[in-house]
Amino acid sequence: MKYVKFYSLILSVLLFSCSKKATLQTKITSPDNNVEVAFKLSEKGTPTYEVLFKNKTIIKPSTLGFEIKDQPALANDFEIVNVAISNFEETWEMPWGEQKEVENKYNQLKIELQETAALKRKLNLVFKVYNDGIGFRYEFPEQENLSEVLIMDENTQFNLSGNHKVWWAPGDWDIYEHLYNTSNFNEIDALSKANHPNLGQHTYIPENAVNTPVTMKTAEGLYLSFHEAGLIDYSDMTLKVDTENLAMTSNLVGSRNTVYKVKRTVPFNTPWRTMQIAEKAGDLIESKLIVNLNEPNKLGDVSWFKPAKYTGIWWEMHLNKSTWDYGMTMVDGKWVDTGNAHGKHGATTENAKAYIDFSAKNNIGAVLIEGWNTGWENWIGFDDREGVFDFVTPYPDYDLEEVARYAKEKGVEIIMHHETSAATETYEKQQDTAYALMQSLGIHAVKTGYVGAILPKGEYHHGQHMVNHYNNAVMKAAKYQVAINAHEPIKATGLRRTYPNTISREGLRGQEFNAWASDGGNPPAHLPLVAFTRMLGGPVDYTPGIFDIKFDKWKKDNQVNTTIAQQLALYVVIYSPIQMAADLIENYEGNPALQFIKDVGVDWQQTKVLNAEVGEFVTIARKERNSENWFVGAITNEEAREMEISFDFLDENATYSAIIYEDGENAHWNENPTSINIREIALTKQSKLNLKLASGGGFAISIIKK
Ligand code: NOJ
Ligand code: CA
Repeated sequence: MKYVKFYSLILSVLLFSCSKKATLQTKITSPDNNVEVAFKLSEKGTPTYEVLFKNKTIIKPSTLGFEIKDQPALANDFEIVNVAISNFEETWEMPWGEQKEVENKYNQLKIELQETAALKRKLNLVFKVYNDGIGFRYEFPEQENLSEVLIMDENTQFNLSGNHKVWWAPGDWDIYEHLYNTSNFNEIDALSKANHPNLGQHTYIPENAVNTPVTMKTAEGLYLSFHEAGLIDYSDMTLKVDTENLAMTSNLVGSRNTVYKVKRTVPFNTPWRTMQIAEKAGDLIESKLIVNLNEPNKLGDVSWFKPAKYTGIWWEMHLNKSTWDYGMTMVDGKWVDTGNAHGKHGATTENAKAYIDFSAKNNIGAVLIEGWNTGWENWIGFDDREGVFDFVTPYPDYDLEEVARYAKEKGVEIIMHHETSAATETYEKQQDTAYALMQSLGIHAVKTGYVGAILPKGEYHHGQHMVNHYNNAVMKAAKYQVAINAHEPIKATGLRRTYPNTISREGLRGQEFNAWASDGGNPPAHLPLVAFTRMLGGPVDYTPGIFDIKFDKWKKDNQVNTTIAQQLALYVVIYSPIQMAADLIENYEGNPALQFIKDVGVDWQQTKVLNAEVGEFVTIARKERNSENWFVGAITNEEAREMEISFDFLDENATYSAIIYEDGENAHWNENPTSINIREIALTKQSKLNLKLASGGGFAISIIKK
């Protein structure tokens, strides 16, 4: 059901003062009345908003506005021209996702403003107030004195109500692959992390600012998470931190090529500035605020893509078992096999077939093959990267057509790989050809990569130029029935609702860091933090499932910092419609824990967070779409714990057969990570279980209806 109602202006606007510049205040509450947004113009005519939860202020009066190039700031001397309040309710279906049906229900306040003097510029503000938080955006309507806007910065303030505990990553203009930090708000120091030694690529942190989603807990125990939704033709928003006044202000990502940060033609709307509000940490994960704030599906039928588990020629390169490159030489601008092949190339036809066979045998739907195309010899550390890669020419030992044919015969999908090395012009020129080739081979998904400094020089990964590049790639790919899993991407802001072929992305410190980071890799607290920060933006291609936790055969100084049971739990805890079984296939053979990866679903009817605390632990139960089966995953940080799980989410009068994969007696992420206990029991709706999680451990349960 979908309906929209308009209330009259008179009811919603209270006249607060009768001064010349009337200070008007108008309010709106969420459908359940718990969240309230109050808007007013200050004495100076500055748009100001405040947010309350259960009648307590959580965002103190905060101002809104812009600095515009060659014009006065668009921030003061406004008057209210019109106020409209409406409400909206619908239920929409995700083609794949954490749940099938999503309720989208909010009350909306739209305020039309105009400057009282000089240019008489117009600016609208729209607030959508949900039970689980708010979203607001600026709208630049058609007007006389403003046609093109060059935004020097957006000054959206968030004045916090206290010195909250914050889970944050630095506001980097070039990379999201930092570890999360935990501190009080007044102790945030993003700059001290600026020269992080382990980043795979460029980093630039110009201010003491945080990236979003940034999550907080108030002294009263309320959870807040700040982010953005619908990032289209605009710059990524970082949040500048004022540790003295406990306030954040938007700080858009810029470019070294322009003095301004965003260029737009009027009319246009900014992305939504969002704030999730939850009394329980788990409710942040269950919230659908970010996707709800995005436009409905514009692609129509996308059934050509199917959620899948996948293996890949991938981890072996990160372990240095094999290489992406073959050993070719560039002669007169062309890659030539001059007989210097080193024999360690990973993406051979034979190896690809071995992965296809393994996937087919183990209910794994797809295989990713990296390093199949020419160009890898000049991948990292080359200034002149344009024209190095192409996305149609395989290395001499890789028969693209034959691999595609063989995969089809075995009922396995191929996931294509396009490492652009951040040379965006080369990629843009070749997209049509590359996606058309994929379509002709029946390949419906590609993993893209943007390692290195962005070309053209001067652009950052997260500026408007690249936001457009990433979004255009998704739209172009859709025309060829191709879905994209971007690495070194722009942040996830719920656009998967509008363009469902945005299937997954990296945008965090992924599993790969465990293979080579010199700081020891991702600590046990990493994923219990990711679940409440990065994951709130959308699907995460973390690439779980490493069984050979220490991989001493390949690298003595690196390891995964979890138990094997936690690696299994990640298939449920970390959501993505493509979920990798990342280890070398030989490490799976003969291991009984593989059964969980075989069984676990990748597409969900329903998701329930059973217990959670940010950065500490989280247990999630998900019901598979198109079956009656449930899967449960729990992970913990370094703290070992015991928890009671109640299975009251199961159907009444039904019996289920469950396989529990739990940490073994003396399991420990470092001392004894591969110790796992696997047992089978019967479960009903009345069942309760006490389960133990080792330090850095977890458990996974498959629950099959009898
Ligand atoms: C970085 C990606 O995150 C990783 O998964 C990939 O293997 C390399 N780039 C090569 O493209
Ligand atoms: Ca990466």
